[in-house]
Amino acid sequence: MANVTVIGAQWGDEGKGKIVDWLASRADAVVRFQGGHNAGHTLVVGEQVYKLSLLPSGIVTGTLSIIGNGVVLDPWALKAEIEKLTAQGVEINADNFAIADNCPLILPLHRDLDGLREAAAGAGKIGTTGRGIGPAYEDKVGRRAIRVCDLAHLDALDAQLDRLCAHHDALRAGFGQPPVDRAALLAELREIAPYVLQFAQPVWKRLNAVRKAGARILFEGAQGVLLDVDHGTYPFVTSSNTVSGTAASGSGLGPSATGFVLGIVKAYTTRVGSGPFPTELADEVGQRLGERGHEFGTVTGRKRRCGWFDAVLTRQSCAISGVTGIALTKLDVLDGFDKVKICIGYRLNGKVLDYFPSHAADQANVEPIYEEMDGWQGTTAGARSWADLPAQAIKYIQRVQELIETPVALVSTSPEREDTILVRDPFVD
Ligand code: IMP
Repeated sequence: MANVTVIGAQWGDEGKGKIVDWLASRADAVVRFQGGHNAGHTLVVGEQVYKLSLLPSGIVTGTLSIIGNGVVLDPWALKAEIEKLTAQGVEINADNFAIADNCPLILPLHRDLDGLREAAAGAGKIGTTGRGIGPAYEDKVGRRAIRVCDLAHLDALDAQLDRLCAHHDALRAGFGQPPVDRAALLAELREIAPYVLQFAQPVWKRLNAVRKAGARILFEGAQGVLLDVDHGTYPFVTSSNTVSGTAASGSGLGPSATGFVLGIVKAYTTRVGSGPFPTELADEVGQRLGERGHEFGTVTGRKRRCGWFDAVLTRQSCAISGVTGIALTKLDVLDGFDKVKICIGYRLNGKVLDYFPSHAADQANVEPIYEEMDGWQGTTAGARSWADLPAQAIKYIQRVQELIETPVALVSTSPEREDTILVRDPFVD
């Protein structure tokens, strides 16, 4: 039995929730390894709907759930999310939930800075989720973060706070804001510390132990490869590495542990926030995709931008993340179109490109080259075998896998767990 790493292969919102939920129900441990509460996963279990932003999806079924060191943790958001789930009957305790003690914290000053910068950026704003993710990662890399383990040593925090506040006070002054209220920050940390510390431990140790004992581990990625801080549409990206390689560094297990890389791929493309999007459709087709696909952000409620499937970008994501197989989602949103298009290359300054260039201006200026296919009548919704699919829909799937040079491991045909066509079980090597 292998471990499985799930990542989004586009700009996030590919429908990871359902797939992760299904895999989590068969895993012995689920680990979040990057991002923070900017993610949004909706899980439907029976009659209950659970909305998760920070907690690993295994939490709902009582599977050992771990927040790895690669995550940035907002302690107050954590408490609120746990309390909401507890009210829904989910049991969360130190046996089934752990937080890496070397995880950096998101503090109110990070949320402030995220908001101030976005407000000042005007049309050039990133369109962040406003959760303080970027500023928290900056402080981690700048070696001035307060981490979970520091909560056990608040009386010895003076020098760290000096460094942190000196940095933030200068930035805040630039925005005409008062300095950080150190006493209030310390008081807030003091109040929340015992709550967080009850779950804190060196999770690399626990993960290595469960791995040795033969546990199946699910690494749960957030966002998508095109939002990766190195490989994405920089600077319109999130501030973490969202590629599969982060599963190892963000959890404390080596790369050999991360196993089958399942890339979640939506049958068309969406993006929230600003930044280049070659196949974006500003017409009624884009409108129709958004309406049929219920394309509104789980965390911010923002309307998602929609467009045709981009095989160039997805091929690049799959290569960069070493995707073993994909889960194709939301095919039914394409039901009933007379024609469907797939982007198979770009035109830029008279040249044809078979990859997405790195420079922001080039990314903004590429023109998609489309291949047009006949659409299909009838529905793919709820299909559980190839025989349930219209022949033309099968052709579409085959063309997608050919163009992205990565095989389809499963096709998801509705939000229901059973509505899935399984080609290859990621947990079975
Ligand atoms: P941040 O992660 O809040 O800094 O936002 C940076 C960019 O990533 C923005 O374009 C967000 O819309 C996008 N983003 C962050 N988290 C998600 C997600 O879970 N799904 C889709 N987009 C996201």
